[in-house]
Order: sequence, then structure tokens, then C-alpha cells
Amino acid sequence: MERVNILIVDDDPDACKTLQMILEERGYTVSTAENGTRALEIVKEKKFDLAILDIKLPDISGTELLKKLKSTTPDIEIIITTGYATIQNAILALREGAFDYLTKPLDIEDLTISIERAIEKQKTETALRREKELNATIILNLPLFIVLLDENLDILLCNTSPCNPMINLSNALGKNISEIIPSECLKKTGLLEAIEKVTHEGIAVDLHRIECPLPSDKNRICDAHITLTGTGKEDILLIIRDVTEKVALETQLIRSEKLAALGQLVAGIAHEINNPLTAVLGFSQLLVTEPEVKGEIKEDLLRIKQEAERARKIVQGLLSFSRPNKPQKEPININELLEKILSMREYQLRVNNIEIIKNLDSNLPQVSIDPYQLEQVFLNIIVNAEQAILETNKKGKLLIGTKKENGYLKISFTDSGPGISKENLLKIFDPFFSTKDVGKGTGLGLSITYRIIEQHNGKIYALSEEGQGTTFVIELPL
Ligand SMILES: Nc1ncnc2c1ncn2[C@@H]1O[C@H](COP(=O)(O)OP(=O)(O)OP(=O)(O)O)[C@@H](O)[C@H]1O
Ligand SMILES: [Mg+2]
Repeated sequence: MERVNILIVDDDPDACKTLQMILEERGYTVSTAENGTRALEIVKEKKFDLAILDIKLPDISGTELLKKLKSTTPDIEIIITTGYATIQNAILALREGAFDYLTKPLDIEDLTISIERAIEKQKTETALRREKELNATIILNLPLFIVLLDENLDILLCNTSPCNPMINLSNALGKNISEIIPSECLKKTGLLEAIEKVTHEGIAVDLHRIECPLPSDKNRICDAHITLTGTGKEDILLIIRDVTEKVALETQLIRSEKLAALGQLVAGIAHEINNPLTAVLGFSQLLVTEPEVKGEIKEDLLRIKQEAERARKIVQGLLSFSRPNKPQKEPININELLEKILSMREYQLRVNNIEIIKNLDSNLPQVSIDPYQLEQVFLNIIVNAEQAILETNKKGKLLIGTKKENGYLKISFTDSGPGISKENLLKIFDPFFSTKDVGKGTGLGLSITYRIIEQHNGKIYALSEEGQGTTFVIELPL
């Protein structure tokens, strides 16, 4: 058990000594001081649980000393000793926070009981304070945004956690919630309605996958739990959790599963179509070369041949989506590969008035990839950017950047095209999703791209807002 430290402050050295002896016999560690100034010096050096103060001291009054001790050592308990003449002062000392007062000459039994009770109180209060501090530390360090609101929606408590970049609020206490989260955002995310429901019906409400209610970070997705505190008052507890990374992982998983399932189906169909298609193509090619086939019939036949070729291209696309070849990896300089693709597209880009701005890190390490598959990936993205720019403008820009970041090689393509709506952004990697006219796009480019990058253990994602252009980012492990 921890030793209890007691400080006796009395200007009568004999009284001090006797009391020290008695208390030490009972197992306490005791120090003494002959006046207030000395007492204040001693408490600076050592931690005391209890002080027994004579109300009449030569330098300062016992009450004054009590106040000073309480302000420097909040956990300390104080017992005042007094003669009958100063009993009024002792009562004053109680008001100032003394635990008890005892009259002189001291009855040792009374004193022992008083000390035991004071120590018990001191221990309970210290434990409570520690628990409170621990709770506050836990709340502060949780990767959650926690707000306690009163019935007027003023903030009573709010954590500004260092763990969560979403939470970066200072001086939020006392402010109305609408000063931290704008009213329109409170409405749009459903938070306001949920708070009203919680207040009126007294039941907890959960909101899933809402836009981050903090204006500082719009791109994050959150879950929210709103409940009453249940402490008898109508305080509302709001717990917001950032689930952006979780949602991204889930989406990726769903997409991969969907693509794999679709891949099997598509592979079967493509294979079955291939045979009759080969026959159509072969016979139409043969027929157009026959001298007796001419005029309108020849034109129709050429049309058949042309369309059959288009169908073959689609089937080839389907096959490479559904059964992507295992990458034949070799160490490659990505910058050189990009330059090669750009020179292949140089003419098209020039006639379409698309300016290429390169920001390629010349110190990139080589990366192990399948160059033919990555060529296909870059080509798909660049052609998409060209088509997107041309859709709305007669000219535009395409920024291509490479850099090394956190063990990944990052390649980005940013175009000045029309951007992609939030709704479409969720579908662009789906096979057959295309906003292009029939015959212009099969909607397979990005799904093939996605599978290739997946097979390279990399990541691909698009960042875009309508009217703001689009950025495709590829991350390949180094
Ligand atoms: N840079 C971009 N800017 C705007 N929209 C884009 C961009 N890249 C892709 N998209 C959108 O994503 C859709 C899917 O692209 P994807 O490359 O998979 O198919 P596609 O280009 O339509 O057809 P395909 O590539 O098979 O010929 C496009 O139809 C377009 O709506
Ligand atoms: Mg495309």
C-alpha cells in the first residue's frame, strides 16, 4: 500500500513533535513546518496527501495557507486545529474547503478518525479525477469526431483529435453547431433531421455514407450516430466516423468481384460468337473479290464486311477484358514508354489542338511491368482524354506526370475536358459503360485498363467534377 504523507504546520515545536511521533507510530510519513512560509516550501519538494494546520500561525493565517496549498496542490486534504478562541475562524476555513476542524487539546482518537476519512475522500477524488482525465484522453485520441450539444444545439464538448485529419477545430466550445457545420450542410447530409428526430422521439439515429459535414474536407465520406446522452438532460451526442478508406476498399472489392463474374460470362459468349463471325468475315472478304459482284450488291457486301470487322474488334476487346493475359513483366522505364505512346498519338493530338504538358520525374526507378499491357492502358486513357476534350472544345490540354511516392510509382493524366458527373464516376470502370454514340465507344477501354492494373497489383482511380476536367491516377508498386 502507498504510504500516506502528512504535513503538520504548527508554531509550537513540542506539539509538532508529539503529534509527529504518534502519527508515525500509526504508519504515516510525517513532515513538520513551524510556519506558513516553510510549509509552502516543503510542498514544492514533496507530494502530500494531508496537511494538519494550526489556525494561528506566526506569519500567515491558517485560512490563507489553506487557500495557497489548495491552489498549488489541488488533491491535498486539510484538517484545521484550533483553540476555542478561534473557533469562528475554523468555521470560515471549512467554507474555504478544509475537510474538518478539531479543537485543542487534540483528542488522538478523534484526530485518527478525521485523518482516515480525509484520506479516503482524497483517494476517491484522486481516482475520480484520474478517470476523468483518462476519459478525456481517450475521447481526444479516438479517430472519431465527437460533439455534445445542448437543446439549443450549442456545443458543450467537442474533441479536436490529432488522429483524424478531418477534425481540426479550435474554439468550437460554446458555438452553435451551425457555426461549425454550415446549415445547408446540416440539411443536405440529413444531420439536422436526425437531430430533430432524436430530440423528439428519444431514439438513436444512424446515418450511413454521408458527405463529410465539415467544410474543410468535402471529399470524405462519413457515418454518423446521433443519440441522447441519457443523463436526464436533453443533451445530444453526435459521433461522426470517417469511413472514406473503408468505402473505397469496399467499392474496389465489389468492382473486382463484379468484373470477375462478368468476365466468365463474357468469355463464353465471345468465344461462341467468334466462330460464326470468322465465317461471315471470311466469306464476305472472298465474295467482294469476285468479279461478278459489283454495283449496289458490292456496296452492301462491303458494308457487311465492315460491320463484321467492327464486331470482331468488339469480340477481341471482350476477350482481352475477360481473359487478360498474365502480364509478361520486365523492368521498364515508364517515362520512355509514355514518350513512345505520345509519339504514336502525336499527329492526332496536333490536329485536334491538344497541348501535352509533361511533368516527368527523370529520376524514376525502373518498374517491373508488361510493356504491351501498359501501352494499352496509357493509350486508352489518352484516347479517352482526347475524345472528352473534343466533345466540348476545339482545343485543350493534357498534363501527364510521373513521380515516386510512398513506394509507388504514380502516373497521372489530367485533361481539360468536360469532367465526369458524380453518378458516372462510379460506373466508368464497368464493362460496356459508355457515354459515347453507338459505334464510337464499346465502353470496354477502362474496364480492360482496370483489370490490367489490378493484375500488376496496382491501383487506378479517377478524380473529376463536372466542368472541371478529369484526372486519372495509376499507382504501380515499385
Ligand atoms: N477523360 C475523360 N473525360 C470525361 N469522361 C471520360 C474520360 N475518360 C472516360 N470517360 C467516360 O468513361 C466512359 C467509359 O470509358 P471507356 O474508355 O471504358 O469506354 P469508351 O471510351 O466509351 O469506349 P471504348 O474505350 O471501349 O472505345 C466514357 O464513355 C466516358 O463517358
Ligand atoms: Mg475509351
